Amino acid sequence: MCEQLDQISPETAPHKHYVAFRYVSPLTEETVPEVVASGAKRVVLFSQYPQYSCATAGSSINALHQYCQQHPLPPDVRLSVIDRWSTHRGLVRTFAANIRAQLERLPEQVRRQVVLLFSAHSLPLRAVARGDPYPAEVGATVQAVMAELGHSHPYRLVWQSKVGPLPWMEPATDAAIEAMAKRGHKHLMLVPISFVNEHIETLHELDIEYAKDLGEKTGASIYRVPAPNDHPEFIGALADLVRTHLAEGGGVRPQLLMTCPMCTNPACFPAKRWIGETVNRA
Ligand code: FES
Repeated sequence: MCEQLDQISPETAPHKHYVAFRYVSPLTEETVPEVVASGAKRVVLFSQYPQYSCATAGSSINALHQYCQQHPLPPDVRLSVIDRWSTHRGLVRTFAANIRAQLERLPEQVRRQVVLLFSAHSLPLRAVARGDPYPAEVGATVQAVMAELGHSHPYRLVWQSKVGPLPWMEPATDAAIEAMAKRGHKHLMLVPISFVNEHIETLHELDIEYAKDLGEKTGASIYRVPAPNDHPEFIGALADLVRTHLAEGGGVRPQLLMTCPMCTNPACFPAKRWIGETVNRA
């Protein structure tokens, strides 16, 4: 992405990336000092979750705010945020290209029977009830991908990776596979629509627990579309998002600055107010 950015946006080159994770190293508190020590004066917070959730991108911003309370950013650092990009054309085209490629590997008479199951990480229902925008944004990605495919196949959006006893968004991916196989849908194609690269939720949960184990149990053939990973169109999308953001002056969209209608997290409002003030101080 940085190599492409240097070419398509030479006026803002050189570009350099840092990674800040929420729960594994390098954590926000490890990465921010590195960025500050580098002397960078223009910093873009670029969420790698295409669809915004308060549990993911929102949580990362809250963590950054908490860190910066103790270690304020130098006043000459200009900050801006790319917080969501669920319908970016390059993202949509990447998913569509990967689905088409996977479909083309199947014989014609099998291809016609395929049902697409877009599988996204689930969310507790209490987060949905607070007004978390994630379900709508995942739905927007699905709709855009299906439009790009010309609505070639039937599809459903299903939800995976629930943990704990509380109710989460449904239908769960595994329950949906079992129910659909019973109804005679024997060719199911899983599309990891909220993940941009492979990890345990795709390589283990989708490939082993669902495609292999549930496939054997139900007698269905379950195929899996790769995550975007390093697809050239996807890398181009990332570069385009940053280029466009910088060309438009950078900043933060109003959507990020508003809390969920029923937000009960005391960390959210101060973090959003801080982001607004920090982005707009330049
Ligand atoms: Fe969404 Fe706090 S839970 S802003």
